[in-house]
Amino acid sequence: MCVFVLSSSKSETLQANWEPPGRNPGRLFFNLPPETQAWELPWWRMCVRVWRMRFLITAGPTREPLDPARYLTNRSSGRMGYALAGAARHDGHEVLLISGPTTLDVPPGVDFIHVETAQQMYDAVRDMLDGVDVAILTAAVADYRPVAYSEQKIKKQGERMVLELERTPDILGSMRSVFGFKGTLIGFAAETQDVESYARGKLERKQCDMVVGNDVSRRDIGFDSRENEVVLVFPDHVEYLEKDTKEHIAMHIIEHATIIRPK
Ligand code: PMT
Repeated sequence: MCVFVLSSSKSETLQANWEPPGRNPGRLFFNLPPETQAWELPWWRMCVRVWRMRFLITAGPTREPLDPARYLTNRSSGRMGYALAGAARHDGHEVLLISGPTTLDVPPGVDFIHVETAQQMYDAVRDMLDGVDVAILTAAVADYRPVAYSEQKIKKQGERMVLELERTPDILGSMRSVFGFKGTLIGFAAETQDVESYARGKLERKQCDMVVGNDVSRRDIGFDSRENEVVLVFPDHVEYLEKDTKEHIAMHIIEHATIIRPK
């Protein structure tokens, strides 16, 4: 299908180029003067609405089981990822949401895969990547899981107990290098200090097109809150979004996601 993409990069004049087939075949790019903000053009939003892309979004926490009664997890509510899925669907895109356990309703019209563990999320992302134009990895995936799962509930022993953990697979880090994903790749960075510089590190190491950094040391934004305040880190610039509802932040991210040209 033919779609129209506005890009305010490099060229001084308005011109149309067909993208070479392979990455996002069928996308027609108009290059505008560098100072042009594509989303300021009144007809831009109309173009977005008729232009259907395929999004894959991860959300929520993972649970790494220890025994039948216990697991390791984190404070992610899933709200940020579900807001992104809702915003992309609202703009007319095809959306697959792959989520760990949350109490949220899946946004109408969004395809959904429920997972529990990091390994299950890794497998689901790998298996569903075919034809995806934009992947946004918002999930708070556990970085470590118990080395051993006990079939029986672990009984109290002494005053102290040592848990042995091992790394989980790095989904974001595998997108380019293992899965060979060629579309637009957006990661998140949950940080408690130096948010912008850690986000830039992730952008470069994981070959992302954009990383959304947020400060998870604050109780009013980030984990398990209705609002967020983020920095969007791109290869050549950054953009700060003021504190706002996750739904509004998500709309901005989706607008960027549809105009980024993947590496
Ligand atoms: O769910 P909410 O309550 O709304 O909270 C939103 C949020 C704080 C979870 C969200 O805004 C956010 O920051 N998500 C990323 C959480 C995270 O795990 O960040 P990280 O810096 O540890 O990971 C960096 C990136 O690698 C993320 O895109 C993450 O999805 C990805 N990752 C991490 C570990 C792993 N094993 N595989 C991954 O793909």
